[in-house]
Amino acid sequence: MNQQIIVKQFPKGWVKETDFELVQAPVPSIKDNQVLIHNQWLSLDPYMRGRLMPGKSYAASAEVGAVMVGQAAGVVIESNSKEFKVGEHVLSYSGWQSHHVANSELVKKIDVSGVPASAYLGVLGMPGVTAWTGLMGICEPKPNETVLVDAATGAVGSVVGQLAKSLGCHVVGVAGGKTKCDYAVKELGFDACIDHSSSDFKDALKLAVPSGIDCVFENVGGAIFEHVMSLMNPFSRIALCGLVSEYNAQPYGNQQIRSILVNRIKLQGFIVTDKPDTWPSIIDSLKEKVLSGHLKYKETIAHGIANTPKAFIGMLKGENFGKQLVKLD
Ligand SMILES: NC(=O)c1ccc[n+]([C@@H]2O[C@H](COP(=O)([O-])OP(=O)(O)OC[C@H]3O[C@@H](n4cnc5c(N)ncnc54)[C@H](OP(=O)(O)O)[C@@H]3O)[C@@H](O)[C@H]2O)c1
Repeated sequence: MNQQIIVKQFPKGWVKETDFELVQAPVPSIKDNQVLIHNQWLSLDPYMRGRLMPGKSYAASAEVGAVMVGQAAGVVIESNSKEFKVGEHVLSYSGWQSHHVANSELVKKIDVSGVPASAYLGVLGMPGVTAWTGLMGICEPKPNETVLVDAATGAVGSVVGQLAKSLGCHVVGVAGGKTKCDYAVKELGFDACIDHSSSDFKDALKLAVPSGIDCVFENVGGAIFEHVMSLMNPFSRIALCGLVSEYNAQPYGNQQIRSILVNRIKLQGFIVTDKPDTWPSIIDSLKEKVLSGHLKYKETIAHGIANTPKAFIGMLKGENFGKQLVKLD
């Protein structure tokens, strides 16, 4: 049977486990040019919260009554396509389910020699490409500039910080808790990392950026972003990647907009899927770094499809440490 997590209703405020339902359906049969994939890994990502609401966004909403959307890594177990053989490892936009029938042109092969399939959902996948795109394409940091990234040990932030270090920048992270901050400095090589849950967060962040901030890779929004904006240098840049602290809440209402004017800041939002042509070369570069040991990554793994909603909510609350995944049987 195909185990599926269905969207039962769009959440109001914080997502709840009861907004989803685990159901079973027969595994569908495949037609010409299709493959049947048995998923091994589900990716959990903050953008999914945006799919759980009606209204205009850069992508269509999930549908109430349908399988929750998302990317997955799995193995082809039946093929009616010349392009795919049984046993090949692939990525697809399967959604939260154990089996997925896909047209072959929507399925991507992955090379799992040297790296696990799960890496293609994190450091070598959408989050890794996001980090590269915002840092290199928008921030364009120069050696010795100060780069700040929040959600610093997450799937995107951990790559941003390590890439910025490799460019010779002074890298400061913001993360939730001492364990995450210690990891950012001791394992990932950040120059400093400030715990946003500590009572002296604002003073500590100011001390960590004695020359001000030249480049912000913004993942969180809310009060953190507001404070960061008060520390920015003239002609600094902000790659606005995400606002995860606001996804389950009312918009924060940042009072530092004036900083953009007086500091002549370049601020650009971006969506990683805007430039699909750039993905293969970025992934190749990231893979080289992973294989040579110059790019580290961490994963938090929930087990079993039934735990997917709980793990999703946990990730939005910062319970993940690195890329959040679900391992399926
Ligand atoms: N623009 C794009 O195309 C694109 C693509 C991918 C991702 N994104 C965005 O990038 C950001 C990071 O995504 P990710 O996949 O790497 O997720 P992640 O960082 O692995 O996980 C989310 C993290 O957000 C932090 N967080 C949540 N609520 C917070 C709060 N109230 N205050 C401070 N931190 C909070 C938590 O880290 P701490 O415990 O450290 O606080 C949590 O671990 C998200 O905003 C996401 O929407 C954008």
